[in-house]
Amino acid sequence: MPEVTEQIDALLNEAKGDLQAVNDPVELEQFRIKYLGSNGLMKGAMKMLGQVPPADKPALGQRLNTIKQNIADSFEARKSELSKTGSAAPTGIDITEPGRRPQIGHRHILMKVRDELVELFGRMGFTVAEGPEVEDEFHNFVALNISPQHPARDPRDNFYLSADTGDQAARQTMKEALNFHDPERNLRLLRTQTSTVQIRVMETTPPPIRVVIPGRVYRPDTHDATHLSMFHQLEALVVDRNVNMVDLKSTIHQFVHAYFGEQTRLRFRPSFFPFTEPSAEVDVWFEDKQRWIELGGCGMVHPNVLTACKIDPDIFSGWAFGFGIERIAMRKYAVSDIRFFVENDLRFLRQF
Ligand code: DAH
Repeated sequence: MPEVTEQIDALLNEAKGDLQAVNDPVELEQFRIKYLGSNGLMKGAMKMLGQVPPADKPALGQRLNTIKQNIADSFEARKSELSKTGSAAPTGIDITEPGRRPQIGHRHILMKVRDELVELFGRMGFTVAEGPEVEDEFHNFVALNISPQHPARDPRDNFYLSADTGDQAARQTMKEALNFHDPERNLRLLRTQTSTVQIRVMETTPPPIRVVIPGRVYRPDTHDATHLSMFHQLEALVVDRNVNMVDLKSTIHQFVHAYFGEQTRLRFRPSFFPFTEPSAEVDVWFEDKQRWIELGGCGMVHPNVLTACKIDPDIFSGWAFGFGIERIAMRKYAVSDIRFFVENDLRFLRQF
């Protein structure tokens, strides 16, 4: 009998100790199941009644009941304590449920593609250059061998900003300012192409040059599935001794196959740009659209462009290309409409 009493006293002590460690409703419930549940320790202790001599039964039974009551009271007390301190969540909420991750956003798909391209060309030995989006006439046209009468200068094809020619200019209308024969005026516009940065690089860097230039460009185009008035280009420029058209074509082949996959079909079409001679346009086959789509232009840098940048065309030659980053992203990720990139629809953006 003393042995049995010791056991049940130990059980009471253990229960009190456990209850002290209980800090939330979940632990409280675990405690209840352990001691007071239908398969709990109290139930087990009750079975001891069967093992003692009949004479001892009443005393033991009483003791067991007291202890059970004691544990149950302590349980209730702890329960109300926990709900008072507020450390317990209201019942009905499962606080073990995993939390929800806050939305922290991510890079826009176009920025991701730009970075992938810069990385890819980086592995081919190209460094990155950048230039201003607000350009002057010299870098957007003159140095690129675009003559004063060239239709590319038409106000309907450019976002001209101002003609800052001092006091006199204050009286000038935009139309007067766009009279192309005044070398003094300081005409500014949003650049229409990243080719402007070719000039800025050549002005400041002696050959050999091997750069890619990612950036935004602006054109007053009507928006449709393949055109936006603000888009991105990736320009490349290589200037060195003995650079030739074979280098250009093989670099573009390597890029297209590395980025879109070995099987990707591409073609070069003869074309014309004032700043390259010869020039070509590069088309890539769009499986989803079942048609060729132009990535952009390329060619051998025109000697006049090298000369404008004080590089001797008798010693150095160069090649360049300028591709639309949106077009590249569309081909890579089967995006059917260029306008998706700027509509900020989260259902689109979250896919990448
Ligand atoms: N700048 C041209 C455009 O935006 C594309 C281009 C053509 C870039 C030929 C080049 C080039 O570097 O060599 O349409």
